Amino acid sequence: MTEHQPSISDTEISRIAQRIDQPLVLVGLMGVGKSTVGRKLASLIKSDFVDADDAIEKAAQMSIPEIFAQFGEPHFRDGERRVIARLMEERHGVIATGGGAFVDPDTRALILERGIAVWIDCAIETLVERTSRRNTRPLLQQGDPREILTRLYEERQPFYAQAPIRVQSMDGPHMDTAVAILEAVDAWL
Ligand code: S3P
Repeated sequence: MTEHQPSISDTEISRIAQRIDQPLVLVGLMGVGKSTVGRKLASLIKSDFVDADDAIEKAAQMSIPEIFAQFGEPHFRDGERRVIARLMEERHGVIATGGGAFVDPDTRALILERGIAVWIDCAIETLVERTSRRNTRPLLQQGDPREILTRLYEERQPFYAQAPIRVQSMDGPHMDTAVAILEAVDAWL
């Protein structure tokens, strides 16, 4: 498979990259593509990428389903808050957060103060389809994924909407969403 080429020139990308002086922090529901898009975004602007869920698993030496099963969601949220605070200190180029991270008031305040928050929004149907491919998300194991995602969307949307930048996740290649983010960030800065 050939790599999908970005629909933006290298010169344009480096012009935008030079203007970005804070970490780009991707927020939004499970399945919107924060990790995949984040990796592409980081490679476009030649910066590093870190996935907060991976960092939590590394810090805990356990998988997210194991943390939920053994200690419960509040314990996971405590760890998530601490890990994201550390990642924000480390000043990475692009950070993908877990879907619930931006709902936490402390985490949200920190991201809004020290980063450029980007909400990747997406139709529920697409999320249902994408999240059905893996069973690594404990919250979606607790009932009908469509109902859960719909409820979480309603609950969390007021928080996600506090991100200064919102980009609709495309059905097509994730590279298109990465480019759309770059253009939206350029317009916002
Ligand atoms: C969660 C989303 C997950 C992970 C955990 C809880 C949530 O991350 O942090 O399972 O509360 O929405 P992704 O959004 O990367 O799937």
